Amino acid sequence: MMTLKLLLCVILVSICSVFKVSCGRYDPTWWSLDTRPLPIWYDRAKIGIFVHWGVFSVPSVYSEWFWADWKSDEDVDIKEYMQKNFPPNFTYQEFAKDFTAEFFNATQWADLFARAGAKYVVLTSKHHEGFTLWPSKYSFGWNAQDIGPHRDIVDELGTAVRDANMTFGLYHSLYEWFNPLYLADKANNYTTQDFVMNKILPEMRELVENYKPSVLWSDGDWEANETYWNSTEFIAWLYNDSPVQEEIVVNDRWGSSIPCHHGDFYTCSDRYDPGILQNHKWENAMTIDKKSWGFRRNAVLDDYLTPTELITTLARTVSCGGNLLINVGPTKEGIINPIFEERLTQLGDWLSINGEAIYETVPWLVQNDTYNGNVWYTSSPSYGGNYLYAIILEWPRNDILTLQSPRQIFEMSVNSVAKLLGNGDTKLKWALTKDHVEIRLPSKATVQNPIAWVLKIIPG
Ligand SMILES: *[C@@H]1O[C@H](CO)[C@@H](O)[C@H](O)[C@H]1NC(C)=O
Ligand SMILES: *[C@@H]1O[C@H](CO)[C@@H](O)[C@H](O)[C@H]1NC(C)=O
Ligand SMILES: *[C@@H]1O[C@H](CO)[C@@H](O)[C@H](O)[C@H]1NC(C)=O
Ligand SMILES: *[C@@H]1O[C@H](CO)[C@@H](O)[C@H](O)[C@H]1NC(C)=O
Ligand SMILES: *[C@@H]1O[C@H](CO)[C@@H](O)[C@H](O)[C@H]1NC(C)=O
Ligand SMILES: *[C@@H]1O[C@H](CO)[C@@H](O)[C@H](O)[C@H]1NC(C)=O
Ligand SMILES: *[C@@H]1O[C@H](CO)[C@@H](O)[C@H](O)[C@H]1NC(C)=O
Repeated sequence: MMTLKLLLCVILVSICSVFKVSCGRYDPTWWSLDTRPLPIWYDRAKIGIFVHWGVFSVPSVYSEWFWADWKSDEDVDIKEYMQKNFPPNFTYQEFAKDFTAEFFNATQWADLFARAGAKYVVLTSKHHEGFTLWPSKYSFGWNAQDIGPHRDIVDELGTAVRDANMTFGLYHSLYEWFNPLYLADKANNYTTQDFVMNKILPEMRELVENYKPSVLWSDGDWEANETYWNSTEFIAWLYNDSPVQEEIVVNDRWGSSIPCHHGDFYTCSDRYDPGILQNHKWENAMTIDKKSWGFRRNAVLDDYLTPTELITTLARTVSCGGNLLINVGPTKEGIINPIFEERLTQLGDWLSINGEAIYETVPWLVQNDTYNGNVWYTSSPSYGGNYLYAIILEWPRNDILTLQSPRQIFEMSVNSVAKLLGNGDTKLKWALTKDHVEIRLPSKATVQNPIAWVLKIIPG
């Protein structure tokens, strides 16, 4: 009898351990991949910097789609620009030697991004032009080590970003406009996969194994479906066996019908900013130059977001459960222009006062106030209390802020406290009306930061 019990026990333990292994692994199906919990660092981080850099930074007009637009029959402007300014027969490839990067100092970039308050950085390791910023074995010499900078940009920036205590991520384009292997598969209606098998999958593995990115930000997926890209097999490898299996997060651009449906976080469309709470982690990938991801020499001041617009977008994004990925486009010489530097440092200054309303917060019951829609809420269980933050985008007339959504908090306890971040320990006076709570702010002239103020509400 005892032996039988023992035997059963041994069998059970074996089954369990076998199960434990198989339960811990992901199958190459969305059904399985979608069960993976989001690595916690990503939701806490809230703010990342996106860097679009490549051969397109050389012409730096019309920007990162330059090559495709130039060759497309629809765009006459670029054709005219090329005719006027370049010899006939000039090829896009000839731009690469002028991608000099002589002033590129990864430490300076990382210092600026950290100063901006970013917690992660995502670099375009390869955009749709196919030029890799690392010496890829699969790039046929079309990379930053063999032409142009003659440097391993991915390695340099990755090292500097990590030295500055930020998380490093990589953007990677699946399709390449003019790659002959891709064009052959496309001509076959994607019934062949030569490009994916011989270029994309080995290249992505090389990228992950050599540079260990914590974000893989996929793009250029839209012309073919996930079966063609072998997306679920690749993501299963990332989650199960890659060197970054614990911390890696991927976005949703893995095949024509995948965006907004699968992935650790959704980006849906560029500058996605739904303005209402989402039920899946998402990211608003947006640009400081409203018209472009890559650097444009001919941009004017009006093309750039104002500090108010930037912080408004941040507040709305974080309130609705998103992360903000803020793009800058460096020049071919490796300079991040002072206009970007100014916006980023303005953001950093704001966050140095108000960061506790952003980092590690969670969405509240209501996102913007039901009476004053210019007030956006976040809440935080992570600063030693259950705090509510109200981000005020417009200073109220007569310094009286009227809110509806948190009225009950004040009704529940006379000890409820409202403070303005950056205004010392001063407890603001408040009063209840039938439907609202009215909070008397200090005089605007006395408060520290010029844009967007944060009220910290402690239930009491
Ligand atoms: C441009 O290419 C065409 C066709 O290859 C050639 O006939 C022509 O001489 C070239 N022009 C110049 C200026 O090199
Ligand atoms: C890069 O910038 C850092 C920080 O400003 C500086 O200490 C370092 O000397 C620079 N490196 C080079 C090669 O100029
Ligand atoms: C990064 O974090 C480590 C450990 O917390 C700290 O010692 C170091 O000073 C930090 N470095 C920077 C550049 O903030
Ligand atoms: C691809 O599909 C198009 C239309 O769906 C068809 O006309 C064409 O013959 C197909 N090509 C191949 C190589 O199957
Ligand atoms: C993807 O496209 C291929 C080729 O057109 C097709 O055979 C396959 O069924 C498609 N897969 C999905 C998931 O739609
Ligand atoms: C690509 O996906 C197919 C199934 O769709 C699978 O049989 C094959 O092993 C995958 N190849 C790689 C290299 O992931
Ligand atoms: C809250 O913001 C949304 C935009 O995302 C807006 O449509 C709505 O009117 C705002 N609520 C109020 C009460 O103003």
